Amino acid sequence: MELNKKFIPISKPSITEKEIAYGSDAIRSTWISSLGKYIDEFERKFAEFSDAKFGVALMNGTVAIQLALEVCGVKAGDEVIVPDLSFVATANAVLYLNAIPVFTDIDPFNLCMDPDRIEAAITPKTKAIIPVHLYGHPADMVRINEIAEKHGLVVIEDAAEAHGATVNGRKVGSWGRCATFSFYGNKNITTGEGGMITTNDEHLYQRCRFLRDHAMSPTKRYWHPEKGYNFRMTNIQAAIGVAQLERIKEITASRNRVFNIYQKRLKNHPVISINNTSPWATNSFWLIAARMKGITEEQRDRLIGFLKEDGVDSRPFFYPMSDLPYLTKTDKTPATHQIYKEGINLPTYFDLTDSEVDFVCDTLIRALEKIK
Ligand SMILES: Cc1ncc(COP(=O)(O)O)c(C=O)c1O
Repeated sequence: MELNKKFIPISKPSITEKEIAYGSDAIRSTWISSLGKYIDEFERKFAEFSDAKFGVALMNGTVAIQLALEVCGVKAGDEVIVPDLSFVATANAVLYLNAIPVFTDIDPFNLCMDPDRIEAAITPKTKAIIPVHLYGHPADMVRINEIAEKHGLVVIEDAAEAHGATVNGRKVGSWGRCATFSFYGNKNITTGEGGMITTNDEHLYQRCRFLRDHAMSPTKRYWHPEKGYNFRMTNIQAAIGVAQLERIKEITASRNRVFNIYQKRLKNHPVISINNTSPWATNSFWLIAARMKGITEEQRDRLIGFLKEDGVDSRPFFYPMSDLPYLTKTDKTPATHQIYKEGINLPTYFDLTDSEVDFVCDTLIRALEKIK
């Protein structure tokens, strides 16, 4: 790459004077560990934002899934149904409990767990379902909850990638018994590293708070009636989170703006399609997900290389988790296995300008010609 040539990253957090001021305030207060006013404020306001009653701030989105599974009663040997197309944290969290992830297929339209495929994956050992709201699009929570209710299963939403997305006008975060979020640096709002469980169930809320702090007795210091964890978030992270939350409307609006330009530029292209949104959903557009129907994995990798040479960062879609060497192969996820190799994520972030999106589109169309 030429020196000084512009490089457009896939993602970049939006950090303004507000985040710096609140973060500095937390540092100056000396409350830099996991006690302090910003923790409570972030939990309360993020839960409210997500249409849920309670929030428990945690150190990342992976432990949020782990803890949610534990408080919902998932035990060693239980089966947990997860979509095959997700970031690996969804399956790993199940494994941390010595439970078994069972992979189910995605809906090719919105890339989330296909409700029509769930019942075939249910066995007497099934305990829970984790729908993932992928790339900002919510899973079909109405139908998934109906199936879960019919079979007596727990639903935990993995909402790491979909802050503020809605199903029938109601935000993700309160559709399952619990929902989990990530605030990693590339997410719609960030705390650097960070996570949250939201729930409407006060008992689960109290259990999460208890277990995240080594299950210490609230009345007898250093008495731990059971095994807990240190999964706490710091007050500095929460301060950044409060600032981000105050800006979430403008952040989401900017992601919509970015999507609309991509859509305008690419919608008539014969091969490329980007994020579909189901009629009952709103999308929070974590990442633009471009699908090039019919390309091979080798062509996709060359495409990513050509984009990079021209100054555009991109990422392949996640591999089917069932293909990872330590997980269990399945032939029951044909849509996942077809789509993962046809897809790449494109730059999506607050500061991305209209002309930069245009540049990414031009570069993608050119790169696609080169891989033929
Ligand atoms: C779908 C999904 N689940 C879980 C996680 C885990 O979150 P964290 O990285 O904060 O542990 C991520 C992302 O990073 C994710 O994309």
